[in-house]
Amino acid sequence: MNLQTPTIKSIHSGEMPLGEYKLRGWVRTHRHSKSVSFIELTDGTSVKGLQLVLDHTVVNVSEIQADIQTGASLETEGRLVASPAKGQKYEFQVATLKVVGTADPASYPLQKKGHSLEFLREILHLRPRSNTIGAIARVRSHAAMAVHRFFQERGFYYITSPVITTSDCEGAGAMFRVTTLDLLNVPRREGKVNFEEDFFKGEASLTVSGQLEGEIYATALSKIYTFGPTFRAENSNTTRHLAEFWMIEPEAAFYELEDNMQLAWDFLVYLVKYVLDHCKEELEFFLGREWTDKSLIESLNKLAASSYEVMDYSEAIRILEKSPKRFDFPVSWGMDLQFEHERYLTDEHVKGPLFVVNYPKDIKAFYMRVNDDGKTVRAMDLLAPRIGEILGGSQREERHDVLLNRMQEMDLPEETYWWYLDLRRFGSVPHSGFGLGFERFLMYVTGMQNIRDVIPFPRFPGYAKF
Ligand code: 4AD
Ligand code: MG
Repeated sequence: MNLQTPTIKSIHSGEMPLGEYKLRGWVRTHRHSKSVSFIELTDGTSVKGLQLVLDHTVVNVSEIQADIQTGASLETEGRLVASPAKGQKYEFQVATLKVVGTADPASYPLQKKGHSLEFLREILHLRPRSNTIGAIARVRSHAAMAVHRFFQERGFYYITSPVITTSDCEGAGAMFRVTTLDLLNVPRREGKVNFEEDFFKGEASLTVSGQLEGEIYATALSKIYTFGPTFRAENSNTTRHLAEFWMIEPEAAFYELEDNMQLAWDFLVYLVKYVLDHCKEELEFFLGREWTDKSLIESLNKLAASSYEVMDYSEAIRILEKSPKRFDFPVSWGMDLQFEHERYLTDEHVKGPLFVVNYPKDIKAFYMRVNDDGKTVRAMDLLAPRIGEILGGSQREERHDVLLNRMQEMDLPEETYWWYLDLRRFGSVPHSGFGLGFERFLMYVTGMQNIRDVIPFPRFPGYAKF
């Protein structure tokens, strides 16, 4: 008879009637007495494994006992029954059991005891088998689904922006070069590298943001979003920065800053609710970790039920100047907010997330719409407790002459951005967008404190494994 192979998640959720099944997965723990053996089996679909019960009069355990080790893979047939044991609803009475692949306990690094996150970062190829990293992978997958659902339900089209680009969106210059030139024998002309001989007959890089290409499509399809990997070659060795991270960037024609803020807030609330609904077990698991803030789930529920707060940058500066707190970076109008300032505003002042708007133009990108004061731009950053900036965006400069002026002030070559200027020459419209760092969001919902733990394969200065 061909038995059904349910996931362990579906068993725990009560979807599977009691009866006979086949199960496949990996051993998490095992213990043996004279007459009976217990194995906790996991298949990575649930925080909880399923207890297999091996009655020695049914299964000849002595033959395979040496191979039943943490990390070994198994296939088993038997019967799902209600468990008489405390703390579990179900258990699995094994009829047949086969060890598919062994895992030598002398060398398998993941043993029964908990491992530190630092240690797990050293074994990226095995860490998804740990409960923490497995749970994060599931939350990440659900959250990605939520991203698409949110925008698709609201008439935004999904646009894939290029990974390889010849323009620098943020104008900050922290880009990874893409080249096939022979670095040991670089072609030169007039003392400079001759990129005419490179693959694209010019300089190319990995994108820092899909925004500018997104604007092209927003001024054609009205509402779009991108969701893809972005790359920053900054030397930022922090718990909040990656060299490769995923960003969601909606862009909408005829949206002004207020519409943009509303969209960003609705989006964040939708994502949080989706994770609360679909990842209950995982969130409860995170709540139990020693590093997790005990108000994690409570603060997510609070956010999901609240409306947003907005503060002018200038007001934020006044509050920081008046605060009794001593900051490492002194506060003055015109400076960029540092992490410590952001955290003071969210964690101590408003005690929740906060939009800061109308930043000085000198600390923001060239494309942001200049305010009538000539000094500030229609920028918005959403700051969240614990993690600081979770998303950033703006209303874009749609006036051709003002944009050209800004580009000249910032030394951005017209030859590179002519197409971007063209969008302001032909049917220009007010428009706005923002970028949400997917990993920053995941840190926020899971309570994880290091961004390197919420992406499967982190890349940061000095480190890119696999
Ligand atoms: O503030 P950023 O640099 O804005 C942009 O790239 C705009 N083009 C977005 C737009 O308006 N379409 O980045 C946006 C977000 C940040 O708020 C942060 O959440 C995340 O991306 N982010 C990073 N996440 C991880 N590692 C890094 N190095 C990040 N840099 C930015
Ligand atoms: Mg930003």
